[in-house]
Amino acid sequence: MARLLLGIFVLGTTVLAAPELTCPGYTATNIQQTDSHLTADLTLPSSSCSLYGNDITNLKLIVEYQTGSLSMILTPQANITCSPLSDTRLHVLLQDAGSNIYQVQEQFLPRPISQNASAATAALHFSFKTSPFSFEVIRVSTGQVLFDTSAAPLIFESQYVRLRTKLPQDVNLYGLGEHSDDFRLATTNYTRTLWNAESPYIPRGQNLYGSHPVYFDHRGVLGTHGVFLLNSNGMDIIINQTEEAGEQYLEYNTIGGVLDFYFLAGPEPAAVSKQYAEVVGLPALPPYWSLGFHQCKYGWPSVDYVAEVVANYSAAGIPLEVVWGDIDYMDAHQDFTTDPVLYPLDRMRALVDSLHQHNQRYVMILDPGIHNQASYDPFARGAQKDVFLKAADGSHYRGNQWAGEVVWPDWLAANTQDWWTNEVATFFNPATGIDIDGLWNDMNEASNFCPDVTCLGDPPPPSLPSPSPNNTAPGTKKGLPGRNLFAPPYPIHNHRGPALSGYTLFTNITAADGTALYDTHNLYGTAMAAATRAALLARRPAKRPFVLTRSTFAGAGRVAAHWFGDNDSSWAHYRASIAQLLAFAAVHAMPMVGSDVCGFNGDTSEHLCARWATLGAFQPFYRNHADVTAASQEFYRWDVVAAAARKAMGARYRLLDYLYTALRRAGGREGRPVASPLWFWWPGDERTFGVQTQWMLGEALMVAPVVEEEGMGVDLYLPGDVWFDFWTGGRVEGGKGGEVVRLDGVGWEDIPVFVRGGTVVPMRVGGIGEMMTTEEVRGRNFTIVVAPGGDGMARGGLFLDDGESVDVGAGGQWSEIEFVWDGGLGVFEANGTFGFGTEVVVESVVVLGGGEGGVGNLTVTGPWGLGEAFGFHL
Ligand code: NOJ
Repeated sequence: MARLLLGIFVLGTTVLAAPELTCPGYTATNIQQTDSHLTADLTLPSSSCSLYGNDITNLKLIVEYQTGSLSMILTPQANITCSPLSDTRLHVLLQDAGSNIYQVQEQFLPRPISQNASAATAALHFSFKTSPFSFEVIRVSTGQVLFDTSAAPLIFESQYVRLRTKLPQDVNLYGLGEHSDDFRLATTNYTRTLWNAESPYIPRGQNLYGSHPVYFDHRGVLGTHGVFLLNSNGMDIIINQTEEAGEQYLEYNTIGGVLDFYFLAGPEPAAVSKQYAEVVGLPALPPYWSLGFHQCKYGWPSVDYVAEVVANYSAAGIPLEVVWGDIDYMDAHQDFTTDPVLYPLDRMRALVDSLHQHNQRYVMILDPGIHNQASYDPFARGAQKDVFLKAADGSHYRGNQWAGEVVWPDWLAANTQDWWTNEVATFFNPATGIDIDGLWNDMNEASNFCPDVTCLGDPPPPSLPSPSPNNTAPGTKKGLPGRNLFAPPYPIHNHRGPALSGYTLFTNITAADGTALYDTHNLYGTAMAAATRAALLARRPAKRPFVLTRSTFAGAGRVAAHWFGDNDSSWAHYRASIAQLLAFAAVHAMPMVGSDVCGFNGDTSEHLCARWATLGAFQPFYRNHADVTAASQEFYRWDVVAAAARKAMGARYRLLDYLYTALRRAGGREGRPVASPLWFWWPGDERTFGVQTQWMLGEALMVAPVVEEEGMGVDLYLPGDVWFDFWTGGRVEGGKGGEVVRLDGVGWEDIPVFVRGGTVVPMRVGGIGEMMTTEEVRGRNFTIVVAPGGDGMARGGLFLDDGESVDVGAGGQWSEIEFVWDGGLGVFEANGTFGFGTEVVVESVVVLGGGEGGVGNLTVTGPWGLGEAFGFHL
């Protein structure tokens, strides 16, 4: 039936009836139920919908109560009213009965194993109506409906799937990244498009480099839950209110794939982070050295110039841990080559040797576009091994990238990993090539400078739109045949359009396993990062790899770190970097993230760069980077910026083990976010729900930078708790009754940071001059800073290992220490596991506000070794 058939004629014009009226929805039959499972057949009545293509008339519903672990992380002020039940994950899958529709390959996202939990102990309950089919997800402890698809009939077509859920008015939703919008998502007229795209200037309201179809819905004291849609197809997620009744809803509009939902019960916000990480994979622990400061620039003219940058940092007394090589190092912008004149191999080797001698590191860029030239060896070897994506006629699919005409690896082809591993091993061979410490994957959305099919000129490329691939075998989950893979009937709001393929690879390209880029486009970047990580592991099997990727999909934190792409040197993007950090670290299970410090596009300014130098120091990934057309912005170029960097880095380096411990907790068993919004800690305090310029770094520190353009003050919210000034150790009065407090006179080299009462923060002892590299940091002793809460208690942790072994925890060479301070008893204890051998000791324990009558600090001096439990009783 044509889409317009039920149009209503008014005065000669056609007014479309709302799809709700034209689409009948499905009917559930053959319902089978066990204690942990439910299945049903869904069929479409004889009248069809055909809104944007062919209806799938037979669907299968599979519901599983999946987990049996108590996934609870308590926050001190949680006061969550719903008692947590043990089974927190509910899996709801709606797929075609024939299992032909594409489902994300297991190798890209290994599914969590269901523990066949029981509906009786589940925190979330699934209930449904048979006709028209709709379902609800209910929080058992409160009876609250969390998800209700009766808002509109389900539409399930070969190229369009729509599911709408009702939500409470003015709901608090977060996630659905990557974007540069507000952290708390708008609730009216808001569209999040998920389609990975090279996105210069990271425009607001648009699809950017990564796709993470997960949101957290925070309902104050009633709890927080998460909803993950495991679907990599392009989609628009619309958050709006109905015109008629003003009812709040969220609507998925995908152009393919299945509805594969994971509902995560929380109820504490951090528990949802953990539960999500359990589905998409716990983030990889980065090497300790990668927490040092990184300097990059597109456009450094020569290797000698880079050596000068390194020397200038040293002369300025500013730590520099990692130097980066952008595409400038390449010969004609080809991967695995060096410019023979400006970056000759022998000079590059000398630079890297010198960096290593000074305990510094070198990371280099690799783009996925491989120069299409027979005389270029990496291409020739790849062609011989048949690793490149192909057009419909079997020839290499071609496009345009830095190197000129390029081809792209098919990460699903049988030999691609071997080829990539070999290229990495050969070019980065320490004996003959460049002995890198990590790799940077850029342009991997994948970006194509060809805006459309005309790009490669006359004759037209053999990769013009073609019919969809021939993987018609049932049960393969590789994608339905007969679709328009180039211009689907429902046009998602891709800002690099008009079509899906604008400035990227044609979506009708089929990979070696028979799946089409139409379905897998959003996975390309993560696939490249995974292959790069595997290549680094093959090159140095015992060492923890470091990969930075621009493009991501859900679960990319398992393999890579991420930066937020080509931002602007603007105050707006300085602020946006905080919301982006919160979304990635707290919601998307990607903790090792940060923005291009001082801004990428355009010239930065002295004051903006000074502020950003301090802000970046309190985010996990800390890299200054700028475009080729932007003025140089290394920190030493302005006195004010240099002073700001020295001060902020002094603090960061003292806190490096605190940060590393937080990353371990994100990547270890706990899945706790490294950086979190205030509502994670004060979930019942409505004033925290929209805060997006302050964040908690780990469990103890709240960072509240100046965010006003050229401003010297900050309005900040200190939820009613005990706080200490990180810089002075002095007690700070929060806003009583929850009001915002104004802090003025914040100098250019300052950033307000507060220590939450109730926490213990391990810090290295020393000044910045003694900690110019992370190697030096690791040799310094500790002081343990105790910030007692209102009840006089405090807790915190410290994770220690060699910082670079790939098997964290293997062989027991690590320590996980828990510190507890009981102010009432005057007892301090450090207990836990002590497997890491070190000469480093704890010099002292400092209790903030612990002096006589609560004035000043109490300092108890050790030393105590870190090989066994220790403590003291006053
Ligand atoms: C685009 C990346 O986003 C940017 O960081 C890089 O400098 C340029 N490509 C050049 O490689």
